[in-house]
Amino acid sequence: MRIAIAASEAAPFVKTGGLGDVLQALPQALSEIRGNQISVFLPYYGSVKYDGKWQMEFLGSFDIPLAWRREYVGIFRLKSRKKKLQIYFIDNEHYFNRSGVYGFGDDGERFAFFSKAVLASIHYLALEPEVISCHDWQTALIPLLMKTEYAACFPRTRSVFTIHNIEYQGKCNLQFNYDVLGLPAKCDEILRFDDCTNFMKAAIVTADRVSTVSTTYAQELRYAYYAHGLDGVLLSRGSAFTGITNGIDLHVFDPETCSALAQTYTVQTLRAGKAANKLALQKRLGLPEAPDVPMLAMVTRLAGHKGIDLLCYIAERLVQRELQLVIIGTGEEKYEWYLSSLNERFPDRVSVNLLFDPKLANLVYAAADLYLMPSQSEPCGLSQLIAMRFGGVPVVHATGGLKDTVPAYQEAEQTGRGFTFQSYNADDFLAAIDRALELYSGKPEKWLRLAQNNMRLDSGWKIPAQKYMELFSLASKGN
Ligand code: GLC
Repeated sequence: MRIAIAASEAAPFVKTGGLGDVLQALPQALSEIRGNQISVFLPYYGSVKYDGKWQMEFLGSFDIPLAWRREYVGIFRLKSRKKKLQIYFIDNEHYFNRSGVYGFGDDGERFAFFSKAVLASIHYLALEPEVISCHDWQTALIPLLMKTEYAACFPRTRSVFTIHNIEYQGKCNLQFNYDVLGLPAKCDEILRFDDCTNFMKAAIVTADRVSTVSTTYAQELRYAYYAHGLDGVLLSRGSAFTGITNGIDLHVFDPETCSALAQTYTVQTLRAGKAANKLALQKRLGLPEAPDVPMLAMVTRLAGHKGIDLLCYIAERLVQRELQLVIIGTGEEKYEWYLSSLNERFPDRVSVNLLFDPKLANLVYAAADLYLMPSQSEPCGLSQLIAMRFGGVPVVHATGGLKDTVPAYQEAEQTGRGFTFQSYNADDFLAAIDRALELYSGKPEKWLRLAQNNMRLDSGWKIPAQKYMELFSLASKGN
C-alpha cells in the first residue's frame, strides 16, 4: 500500500514528546511490511535545516493560496537508502525557521499552511497514496482539505486521523476560514465548535477513519471526563473511531546496546546490570551509593494531568520510607518549585532534575526499580513501556494506555506487570507504591521474576503496525 504520513514532529529530526517517538517508529515499522511504500511529511524547521547533520535534496517549489495570499512551498527529501521509507520536508522560512516548534501566536496559520502544503506536495510529486495518515491538531485540516480544495487531486485517496493528545485541538477564531484557510463558506459549520474554529473537530467529522493511541483511551474518549468537549463528536463516528495501542522502538530502547548506560545488560544479567546503573546514577546525582535501596523514578513533563499533584500530596509521607526518588523533567512552575524544595529538604532521598536530557533519562530507566506514572489520563504513554523494557516495574493509575499495557500484578499466579490504582486518588497511589515496595523488599526473587518478565514483553511496533494496516485498508475500502 502507498501511505503518506503527515505530522508536526518525528524523532530523530524534531521531538517535543511521545508524538515524535511514534512518528519515528510507526513509519519505519510500516515500511517493513511487504508491498508498502511510506512517505512521511514534516515541516522543515530551522533546527533541522541548519544543523548540518542531514543530507537533503531539493525537489522543487511552487506557491499555494492561503485565503487572499500566496505562500512559498519548497520540498526537500532526506537522502536515504531506504527506498520504502522516504522523508519529505516542507520548506517555508517564515513559518518554520523560528526558535522552537510550537507556541507562536500564529500556530494555527503555520499548520494550516503545512497541511495544504503537504497535499500540494503529494500531488506535485505524483505519489498517489491510497491513504493519508495525519496526527494531532497540526495536521487535522488535511481530511477536510482532501474533500474540498484538493478533492480533484485525490479522488481515490482516503484519510485517517489519529488523536495523540485531545487537550490541544487547534482552536482559532471564527474568522480563520475567511482570513487564512480560504475554503468555501459552507465549510464554516464543519470547522466550527462552540464559538471557535476547531481543527480537531473538523478532522473527526471528515476523516474516513479516526483512531487514537490505545484501546482503553478510545473507550474513555466517548465520555466527557476525558474528551475535552469532543465526546459527542467522537460518539457520532460510532465504530469508525477505534484505538490502536502504541509500541516503542525496541532498537532505540535496548538495555543490551544503549550507549547511555554505565553497564548494558540482558534478562539474565538484569540484577547486576541494574545495580551497576543504579550506582552510576547515584554517583552522578549525588545520592547515597546504595545498590539495595529501592529506586523510584519519573521521567515526565511536570504537568497536572501527569499526576504530579498526587505525587506532591504524598511526597512527604513517601520519603519517610527507605527509598530514593529520582525525577527528571520540566513543566509548571508550582511543581518545579515544590519538587525543588522537596529535594532541598531530603537530599539523601530525593533528586529532582529540572531538565530534559534523553541520555540521562535512559540511565534513569536502567537504574530504576519502580517507575511511577500516576497520570490522571493517558492516551497511551510510552515511558511505562520503556521502563519495563529496562526491567522496571511500573506503578500506574489504571487509565488509557496505562491500563492496556500494565495489567495488575497477581502474586499468587505471578501474572501481570505492575501495581495499579483505580481511582485518581493520592492515598490509593501511595498504597500501590507500598504494595510494590513490599514485594521488592520482602520477596526479591518474585520481584526479579516480575522484572524479567517485563523485559521480555514484546512492546515493539510489529503488531500495532499490522493493526494500522487493517485500519488503512478499512479506510481505503470506504467502510
Ligand atoms: C501523547 C500522549 C501519550 C502518547 C503519545 C504518543 O504524548 O500524551 O500518552 O503515548 O502522544 O502517542
